[in-house]
Amino acid sequence: MEKVLELEKVSVQFGGLIALDKVDMDVRRGEILSIIGPNGAGKTTLFNLLTGIYQPTSGKIIYKNRVINKLQPYKRVNLGIARTFQNTRLLKNMTVLENVLVAHSQCNGEGLLESVFSFGSVNRKRVAIVQECIEKLEVVGLAHKLDVFAGSLPYGEQRLLEIARALATGCEILLLDEPAAGMNSSEKVELIKKIRQLSNEFNIEIVLIEHDIGMIMDISDRIIVLNYGVKIAEGGAKEIQNDPNVISAYLGGEVDWD
Ligand SMILES: Nc1ncnc2c1ncn2[C@@H]1O[C@H](COP(=O)(O)OP(=O)(O)OP(=O)(O)O)[C@@H](O)[C@H]1O
Ligand SMILES: [Mg+2]
Repeated sequence: MEKVLELEKVSVQFGGLIALDKVDMDVRRGEILSIIGPNGAGKTTLFNLLTGIYQPTSGKIIYKNRVINKLQPYKRVNLGIARTFQNTRLLKNMTVLENVLVAHSQCNGEGLLESVFSFGSVNRKRVAIVQECIEKLEVVGLAHKLDVFAGSLPYGEQRLLEIARALATGCEILLLDEPAAGMNSSEKVELIKKIRQLSNEFNIEIVLIEHDIGMIMDISDRIIVLNYGVKIAEGGAKEIQNDPNVISAYLGGEVDWD
């Protein structure tokens, strides 16, 4: 399968701590790839690396045939890499729709003059952008809450709004850091459906960090396991469940995969 993004022997070091240790991995066209591992394994560091918040100490990140080790975060968003955060970063005093509009890839693209004079074409463009943002909100199931302040949404819906914001950037790779955190089991079932729908309807790759093993086994095309910054396993759900290294990395061998 076509590789969209590749990491070659990538390490990230913070002083004496090696958060990622010579990690080789790739993201393939159209897949749902999950990154799992115990607390402190390096999962969020990996996302920070992919989005340009951190740069590798060594190794290469290759995206669209280009080494992007030093590319700034906003340029990576323009290239199509978007994420959600482990702790949501919404604009809590703005409405649901405004949150998505602010994230939209073309929202800052109208020049000053155009904004002042509001020519017909600009208005049409605005209407189209608002429509696109509403479509993203429909996908995550929040289109009925356009005027609600983000800060007053229940936590699970705040996470869905983050996904809509990431989609509005026009992303090609969507990185989701623990999207099910704070959700109850029925919300998780809905989230799984929505992530599948995203994967099917949009032409995007989804990389997912999640602690809910049942959800991971259900949704993933492929799974990568990190432990202390090292990739210890990679494969489909069955392979991962039976991998002795994975079993011993989790709870000293007592894993509830359901
Ligand atoms: N900016 C930083 N400075 C120093 N150490 C850091 C920094 N960011 C992460 N680390 C360390 O790197 C290691 C990996 O952290 P990371 O947040 O990537 O883990 P994680 O797998 O996302 O864990 P969790 O499941 O708890 O979210 C940890 O030991 C963490 O303390
Ligand atoms: Mg994390």
